[in-house]
Amino acid sequence: MTTNPENNNYVPFRVSTLRGDQKIDFNAYVRINEKYILYVRKGDSFEGNRLVKLKEKKLKQLFLKSEEENLYRQYLERNIDMAYDKNSGKSITNRAEIIQGSQQSGAEEVFENPISATAYNNAKHNMEKFVTFLQGESEAFQSMMNIENVDQNIAHHGVTVATLATMLMQKLDFDPAKTNLIALGALLHDFDHHHNGLQVNRSLSQFTPQELAKYKLHPQTGAETVKDKKHFDPLVLKIILQHEECIDGSGFPHKLKERDIEPGAVIVGVANALDRLITFEGVPKQQAPKELMIKRVGHYPLDYIRMLGEIFSKQALAA
Ligand SMILES: [Fe+2]
Ligand SMILES: [Fe+2]
Repeated sequence: MTTNPENNNYVPFRVSTLRGDQKIDFNAYVRINEKYILYVRKGDSFEGNRLVKLKEKKLKQLFLKSEEENLYRQYLERNIDMAYDKNSGKSITNRAEIIQGSQQSGAEEVFENPISATAYNNAKHNMEKFVTFLQGESEAFQSMMNIENVDQNIAHHGVTVATLATMLMQKLDFDPAKTNLIALGALLHDFDHHHNGLQVNRSLSQFTPQELAKYKLHPQTGAETVKDKKHFDPLVLKIILQHEECIDGSGFPHKLKERDIEPGAVIVGVANALDRLITFEGVPKQQAPKELMIKRVGHYPLDYIRMLGEIFSKQALAA
């Protein structure tokens, strides 16, 4: 095996951590054919349109020189601290973009390294801050929902489902002791889609029978992959396994009826069904709750579907 000594000086980092108007003070490189090419420069920042453009590239990973790794860590810390600080003087749009990126990157860490208790516990700890942000700041939901999932990323979808589930639980006065874990289950619910290579960004009616068969296995495959990892909470495992079940017994993988489905999985299920329409089937946000009511009535409690509609209508979401 030949190694290029120069390549040892680069370390990977997640593109989802590049967010907000804080300028980066390190250079970021893309790896092409074992070569590292300067991609984003010191002094760039990533908000609004520039963020959309970066996301459109669908790059998950960039590299930096190991001697600049400390600068990157400091950038991350400053960004997160500022984003969760109401009094930072930064706009809610900017703060929400950083928070969304941080949640997405936390989910990606768990998807890629489920064996790591540290990755899981970081996601769990960060979820507490996220839930407090969503439930405590009136503009948080709207700002989160205004961030387009332009690359139809599964981890971003997890963040959106966690956002919707958290707002629904607040409206339902759902057991606050469980909110954090249910939101974490929402973040990680599609664990298997990160790995199974299915092209999920289209209507299920467009799937071939083989694709559909594989799709119907994703909750079980996901849960089985992580069930022996002791750091995964049982409630999170149940949500991964049951998030596609429907209360009338028409869901999968086990066609469970309402009495047998974990209540947190019903919350995540309805939130997931709504974001499937928005993110993967191209339904405009304002129409999505109505479409959910038409297409999925009977699958979820009627008041949950209605409440999601109310949560949306109270917010002036960008179309
Ligand atoms: Fe799913
Ligand atoms: Fe999903």
